[in-house]
Formats: sequence, structure tokens, C-alpha cells
Amino acid sequence: MRKITIEPVTRIEGHAKITIHLGEDGKVDRTQFHVTQVRGFEKFVEGRPFYEMPAITARICGICPVSHMLASAKACDAIMAVRIPRAAALLREAIHCGQFVQSHALSFFHLSAPDLLLGMDSEITRRNVLGLAEKHPDLARDGIALRKFGQRVIERLAGERIHPPGIVPGGVAAPLSAPGRDAILKELPEAMAIARRTLDLFKTILDGFASEIANFGCMPTMYAGLVDPAGALRLYDGRIRFRAATGEVAAEFEAEDYAQWIGESAMPASYLKSPYFKPLGYPQGTYRVGPLARLNTAERCGTPAADAELAEFRARFGRVVESSFHYHYARLIEIVYALERLEALLNSPAILEEHVRARAAVNALEGVGVAEAPRGILIHHYKVDEQGAMKWANLIVATGHNNLAINRSVEQVSRYYVDGNHLQEGMLNRVSAVVRAYDPCLSCSTHAGGLVPLRIQLVSAEGVVLDEIASR
Ligand code: MG
Ligand code: NI
Repeated sequence: MRKITIEPVTRIEGHAKITIHLGEDGKVDRTQFHVTQVRGFEKFVEGRPFYEMPAITARICGICPVSHMLASAKACDAIMAVRIPRAAALLREAIHCGQFVQSHALSFFHLSAPDLLLGMDSEITRRNVLGLAEKHPDLARDGIALRKFGQRVIERLAGERIHPPGIVPGGVAAPLSAPGRDAILKELPEAMAIARRTLDLFKTILDGFASEIANFGCMPTMYAGLVDPAGALRLYDGRIRFRAATGEVAAEFEAEDYAQWIGESAMPASYLKSPYFKPLGYPQGTYRVGPLARLNTAERCGTPAADAELAEFRARFGRVVESSFHYHYARLIEIVYALERLEALLNSPAILEEHVRARAAVNALEGVGVAEAPRGILIHHYKVDEQGAMKWANLIVATGHNNLAINRSVEQVSRYYVDGNHLQEGMLNRVSAVVRAYDPCLSCSTHAGGLVPLRIQLVSAEGVVLDEIASR
């Protein structure tokens, strides 16, 4: 079988691509999802003072800078060997809740709702936010309002929307005022009402997606997420837990021990590495992270409304939910959780305490920081010299953890829907839709800093590109 590799114009910022290769019979022979990572980030930071890392790493990604700042600041806390002040921990988690709401709303309303509410096969020129606003104006308005709410939480708590300077090694830059807290609390009920009615609407349309539920990465894998000592969902901190496909807890460990449990497979040098669960090896140790994986991994959310939704989700689809189509459902439950958690944090009197930053020099030559980014576990691991100059860094981003699972999901969807003899746009749309279900941050993965398009190419047995589409 001949194959012509048509790389997108080699762009310095990296790229993401799916190739679907057809065999002689016109059926799918094999597929590949690959992300070309810009090399040299780890090299670039060598020699920089460690305390600059939160601000530097926030620039890795214009989509999820808050998550990078948090993981980075936590790695810096470890290097200083400090316990950050109580108010700082509450504020960091509250900022993170704002980021979850903002990011999950973007994924659901902006990127996936056109597929879900207008249909996978709907007219392509209208299958976008504009088409959504025309057919479902209330939903479109809700999406914008919820996303803005999340952004305002970040602004009010961290000072600046895109690259919040408020998250620093040892804590946060400034305390929260009572009026600042009250302004957010006043807007919370409306944000919660939007989250609840969106979830209710979503539950009514699920039956129309039986085929997607059965074929969108519906497969046994492991799942990983952060949990508290009682096994409840955690977004800002916690131990890393792995749950097996069969349901039992396979491992639970502190972030600093990640390298004992998580292997990174050697891909061609410029490709995103594929992490796997070490005890099972590669690729048997394939696992998923992100909303669905977190809900599978945790025993419960730990807030009342989200726990009621989680119970209903499990009653309908099982204790360990296998289909990656349900990332959408899980994402909506997590919005409810993040809003409930935000309210609890803001109502904690300690959040207004003035002492918000611990200061120290280097007390450890190595530090690991972990947080749940909206898309899944994010690990920052640094080594420094006695003066605090960076010697080495390793980052594992959510899309890296999900790399193997996304590859398998793309293959499953392609085999089921794509038939080279009868090509339809809706088939290729499902291939990109399964990737959108994971909400991968291609910007993070490539270390590109901005939006990275995903290109899908359908290649015939003769190596001819039959079709190509591009989406975020
Ligand atoms: Mg790395
Ligand atoms: Ni990102």
C-alpha cells in the first residue's frame, strides 16, 4: 500500500493531524492522530530562575494559562518547601473553579453544541455558533453568559483574564476583598441556573446519539484523576488515582512519585509522547484523563447537586462509563460541581485573610506540581541548582495522557463510519467530533501558544488525498 505524506506546510508552532488510510477495498485500513510538538521548551527554560516559571509556562498556552500557572506554582512551592497560607490555597482553588467553568463552557457551547443540537450530519455551513444562535438563541446566550462568568471569576480573583499574574510561588499576589467576593457570590445563582438547565436539555437529546455513544471511543481503558483522602473529586490538589477498566482502584500515589507509575513512550522525537500506566506497560496501560475519567476515578464529587447528577449518570450508564461520547455529559456535571465548590470556597471566612504568600529561597532541588486542568491531569516537574536556576523541566499535559486513547477512538470511529466508496462530510465530521469530545488542548500539546487547527486527511490505497477538512 502506497502512502503519500502530505504534511501541512511545516509551521513552526506545531500542528495536529489525523490521517485515515483506506485499503484496496475502500474500507479503513488504519488511522493515526498525531500532534507534532515544538521541541526545545525544556531547553529554553534552562538557567531561568525557578520563580519565573509560572509566568513563563502560562505563555505555553493561550487556552489554559491558569492551569499551567497553578501546576507551575505548586512545583515552585515544593522547591521552596513551603506550605502556602490557608487563604492562598482557597483562592487558588477558587480561581481554578472559574477556569473550569470558562473552559468547559467553551468546549460544550462553542465547540460541540453545534454537532449535538444541530446534528452531526447537519449542513456544514450552518453547523457552527452562528447556526446555533439562529436555531437555539437561548442556549447560545447561556453559553456566552456562563463563559463570561468564569472569566470574571478569574479576573476578580487573579487580576487579569488571559495571563493572571495573581498566582505566584508561595501563594497568590493579593488578598481578596469582601466586595470582590460578594460580587461573585451575587452572580453565582444565575450561572448555576444556566448549568442546570443545560444539563437537563442535554439529557433529553442523548437518545438521539445511540450510534455515537456505542462508537465514540467506547472501549475499556484505565482512568486517572486527583482525589482527596476519601476518594472524592479534587481539581486543585490531591493524590493521583488510577482506576482499572474493571472498576477497582489500581494505584493511588502522591504527585511527586508520578515517574514510578507513569511511563512516557518514546515516539518519534517531534511527536507528543504517549504516557501509559507503567505496571501494565505500553500500550496495555492506556488510560484516559479529563471529565469522564475524573468521574470514573472518584467515588463522588463531594457537593450535593453534582453528586445527585453523578448518581443519575451512573444509574444510566454504569459505574465505569466507557464511551468517550460521555465526556460531554461529564463536563456538564463538572460545571455544576465547580460552581458549588466555588460558592463553598467563597463562603469560607478564611478566604478573606490578608496573609496570602509564603516567601522562601531554595530548600529542595526538585519539585513536582500537579493540578487537574479542565482537560485532565497536568504535571510540572522541575530541577534547579542551589541558586534556584532551572536545570531541567518535564511537563505532561492532558492531551499527552489522552494521546493513546484518542488514537484508539479515532480508529474506532473511522472504522464504523468511514466508507471510502460513499464519502460523506458527516463521516469525517464524526472523526473530528470524537476528538472534540476529549477537548484536547492542541495549543498546550504543541507548546504553540495559540489556536492550532486539527486537519483530517482521507487517503486512498493509492495514496491520493480524497478529502480534507480542518477544524479547531
Ligand atoms: Mg514532557
Ligand atoms: Ni492548553
